[in-house]
Amino acid sequence: MKKLLSLFLLVLSVNVFASGGVQLQDADIDLTDKVSLQRGAKSFVTYCLGCHSAKQIRYLRVANDLGLDEKHVLDDIAPEGAGIYDQLHSAMNKHDAEKWFGTQPPDLSLIARSRGADWLYSYLKGFYVDKARPFGVNNAIFEDVGMPNPLWQLQGEQKPVFVNDGERRVLDKLVSASAGTQSPEEFDKTVNDLVNFLVYVGEPVQLERQKMGKYVLFFLFVFLAIAYLLKKEYWKDVH
Ligand code: HEC
Repeated sequence: MKKLLSLFLLVLSVNVFASGGVQLQDADIDLTDKVSLQRGAKSFVTYCLGCHSAKQIRYLRVANDLGLDEKHVLDDIAPEGAGIYDQLHSAMNKHDAEKWFGTQPPDLSLIARSRGADWLYSYLKGFYVDKARPFGVNNAIFEDVGMPNPLWQLQGEQKPVFVNDGERRVLDKLVSASAGTQSPEEFDKTVNDLVNFLVYVGEPVQLERQKMGKYVLFFLFVFLAIAYLLKKEYWKDVH
């Protein structure tokens, strides 16, 4: 029986390997981590806003939710000329986008909800050198994507390693081909903060809901204490 079981496990593991392909990596999402969200906001404006908007949110809301004062957001995070009541608008116009990319960079307000945090995390880490593509890069998670790697200076370049799966050639993993300005650990953190921010943008009320949850728990606790005292009071006469 044991032999059978181990044989079964062996077959299973071989199968897992044979299927190849790049797996999604886990993003570490923590919406209570304000510093991470602040860093993410800064990276978003610096590296993504050139092409993408996030129109469902305004700088004022970002300031309030992330615990920053308005001046700090305008001076340090928002692009020059933006006002505190503005939405996170990209300066790129439709016409140029079509000309350069053949398609429009989508608004990223809801991207974390549609794609999921792990997908975004893996996508932003998944660019690799591919000379056949217009921007010289391809992506392990989104094949033939029409977006250049916005973070290549931080990450450096990655090269693909392919394996043969029967007839097919599948991407097995990515290896570093040149160092970026950040170490791999720093880069993971940068990407994680960025994804954390996009998750927040997808549903800003989550932060409020958490705060509300604490009040509710506090209320229930106080109520429990009152109920207990009342019960003691009532039963005193019965005993
Ligand atoms: C130079 C312009 C440019 C920059 C900068 C840029 N993108 Fe993109 N992005 C695009 C284009 C164009 C597409 C559409 C690609 C396609 O559909 O093939 C895209 C697609 C995406 C998608 C996939 C959307 C989907 O589900 O189809 C995500 C996610 C994304 N970008 C995130 C980001 C993030 C996060 C940043 C900042 C770190 C960023 N992009 C910076 C141009 C850009």
